[in-house]
Amino acid sequence: MLDTIATVTGNRPLTGGHLILSVLSPEQAQAARPGQFAMIRILGHSDVLLRRPMSIYDLRPGDNGDGEQAKPAELDFLYKVVGRGTAMMAALKPGDEVGLLAPLGHGFFAEDYLAEARAADEVLHVAGGIGIAALLLPARELAAAGVQQRLFFGGRTDADLVGVNEFQPYVAETLLATENGTLGHRGYVTGTLESYLKSQPGKRLLILACGPWGMLEATVALARRYGQRCLVSMENRMGCALGVCLGCSIRVRGEGHAAYERVCTEGPVFWSEHVVWGADQLPKT
Ligand SMILES: Cc1cc2nc3c(=O)[nH]c(=O)nc-3n(C[C@H](O)[C@H](O)[C@H](O)COP(=O)(O)OP(=O)(O)OC[C@H]3O[C@@H](n4cnc5c(N)ncnc54)[C@H](O)[C@@H]3O)c2cc1C
Ligand code: FES
Repeated sequence: MLDTIATVTGNRPLTGGHLILSVLSPEQAQAARPGQFAMIRILGHSDVLLRRPMSIYDLRPGDNGDGEQAKPAELDFLYKVVGRGTAMMAALKPGDEVGLLAPLGHGFFAEDYLAEARAADEVLHVAGGIGIAALLLPARELAAAGVQQRLFFGGRTDADLVGVNEFQPYVAETLLATENGTLGHRGYVTGTLESYLKSQPGKRLLILACGPWGMLEATVALARRYGQRCLVSMENRMGCALGVCLGCSIRVRGEGHAAYERVCTEGPVFWSEHVVWGADQLPKT
């Protein structure tokens, strides 16, 4: 993990208040793995609370000018403007600088995840809203490993369903859902997921899910009901992101101190059966 100052190379607006921030930082880009995240700090503010956790959405070679396939040099962050920090991010322009603490967390692919994905008949990506940002790198890595994949993506309206095209090369099918019916199935993404799970008896599936807490709980309940394993990537509020403040702790299966884990250091990705769901979970801020 490195704490650097990185130069903004782009900040492209998409629909629904979403943008893609691109920053140049070759060392951090080359160290990053699918499922890891960064803390982005807006410079020029003494407010240390102005660091915001963002999934590493994509990694791209920088422009090395010789046309050759270069190592990753730029990191992309797909984000939605929801408050003060993300509004400041939206104002960044090429040439500006940001503080970048990255890569953080232990990503999707510790060896056991990859082994589980390879052993499955299919990996199902389940994204709610901006949760899609955590899933592009895993989809690419799994495609390179020859794993069959499908994407289930839900949002409030069609404007929330950003980045779908990026997944096309990696997934056999994309199933969309919107709460207001403006795109895809009307309703929650978990409705679409359940129909699919029902239609695949006897198949071994691995679910990778990222989105709001309620969506994750519903996805995990479905995984349990249909006897499938599920990895969840959590987006809790964070303070330090270094394992010190304990502000991101969640309840997990265990006794005493072992009943709590930090999303920033032990996560953000967890096996769903390891997490305590429902009323016994800590309050989510
Ligand atoms: C590991 C991790 C990865 C993340 N990846 C992304 C990403 O790739 N793209 C992205 O847009 N967002 C991501 N988030 C959420 C993002 O960090 C928050 O949206 C952001 O911190 C909000 O900052 P703000 O100052 O704009 O909003 P605030 O003023 O702090 O809050 C505005 C509103 O957003 C809600 N909010 C704040 N933080 C979160 C949060 N962590 N999760 C859900 N709701 C929140 C608040 O409850 C409030 O309603 C991630 C969070 C974590 C922990
Ligand atoms: S955010 Fe401080 S311990 Fe995780």
